[in-house]
Amino acid sequence: MLKLSVSFTALSVLLPFVSAQSATWGQCGGVGWSGATTCTSGNTCVSYSQYYSQCVPSSQVTTSVSSASSATSSSASSSASSPASTSTVKLHTLAKSKGKLYFGTATDNPELTDTAYDAILDDGAMFGQITPGNSMKWDATEPTQGTFTWTGADQIVDLAQANGQILRGHNCVWYNQLPSWVTSTTWTAATLTSAIQTHCGTLVGHYKGQIYSWDVINEPFNDDGTWRSDVFYNTLGTTYVQIALEAARAADPDAKLYINDYNIEGPGAKATAMLNLVQTLKAASVPIDGIGFQSHFIVGELPSGIQTNFEAFTAQGVEIAITELDIRMTLPSTPALLAQQKKDYTTIISACQAVTGCVGVTVWDWTDKYSWVPSTFSGQGAACPWDENFIRKPAYDGIAIGFGN
Ligand code: G3I
Repeated sequence: MLKLSVSFTALSVLLPFVSAQSATWGQCGGVGWSGATTCTSGNTCVSYSQYYSQCVPSSQVTTSVSSASSATSSSASSSASSPASTSTVKLHTLAKSKGKLYFGTATDNPELTDTAYDAILDDGAMFGQITPGNSMKWDATEPTQGTFTWTGADQIVDLAQANGQILRGHNCVWYNQLPSWVTSTTWTAATLTSAIQTHCGTLVGHYKGQIYSWDVINEPFNDDGTWRSDVFYNTLGTTYVQIALEAARAADPDAKLYINDYNIEGPGAKATAMLNLVQTLKAASVPIDGIGFQSHFIVGELPSGIQTNFEAFTAQGVEIAITELDIRMTLPSTPALLAQQKKDYTTIISACQAVTGCVGVTVWDWTDKYSWVPSTFSGQGAACPWDENFIRKPAYDGIAIGFGN
């Protein structure tokens, strides 16, 4: 049974004198919304929060109560054809109340034209932190050597600041999404060092004082714990890490400097390699403040020992964060898969909750509508806590439970 909060506006489908109506899955209300507040035939306007109401097919919503005095306090019991969230908490507010710095999400510029998406993204009680999914990457910010473009990144920084959301910067040095001039130049150690210093220094410096933490280095290791072969490692060996971190520190002394990777959430060769790198950098007084655990998981396949592994990192004097969380499944989703996904979200969130040095959690976009998963893993998806129609899934409740709600 799906529990939905149905607003007073649900009744308005019965009212005459309707001038314009929203179609299925369109927005039909919320703070700041100036469009239609009724739905086309066959749909019901459902309020998810004071910020967002949506036209849901009436066949998926069976309202038994609707006598509210306001959209925010109305309540109703409803049913739908697939399981959904029943939690009423906002996730950033909850995370803060449990001692974390933030609960946040990645977003990307093309999505921002979707006003229904924006209505939820802009809710600072839901998302207290934003990571640009693509627009701070090297190909976006320095497409030609020495020429920087900030348009996309600035749009997201401005949006986050308008919403009172803190920012994670992503990223300075990564083997992927590099402009061709980086990958095709014949570098010497000196010229590549200079290029890294210019890129990281200019990027981090442009946002000085505005970014909580930077993924200065992204994905340096292979899954077996060996160093990834890329233009940086092949030219400079492991020293590129120090070069980038020091350039970032000089550009913004107050930003937390992170190394970010996947498949390091549980103990194993890759986690050990990262732990050894932290120890080596610390011993050499290279600036390193945090490790990001991307946490791109598969339903039912989370590693064991996550909390113990997290504690091994914080014991080295770095903070940690879950930076790109999603938990994908083979499609189509089923109630059983969604129930397991809920448990898996609880598992990873509760590991962060249990470790004081785990400062926050970022999902790699909050809705399946804009998840990176289907285009990368054919036949897989449904990885996010909200579905493609912006309806909260059981995973949402799993997150709340993980934070101890
Ligand atoms: O910018 C081009 C655009 O010009 C072109 O028209 C379009 C056609 O497909 O492609 C656009 O580039 C896409 C880019 O996102 C920007 O939208 C790439 O094809 C696409 O592959 C790229 O995907 C991104 C992926 O990183 C690249 O590896 C995802 O959106 C992004 O969510 C994902 O994020 C990464 C993190 O940075 C690091 N950790 C893993 C995570 C998931 O892969």
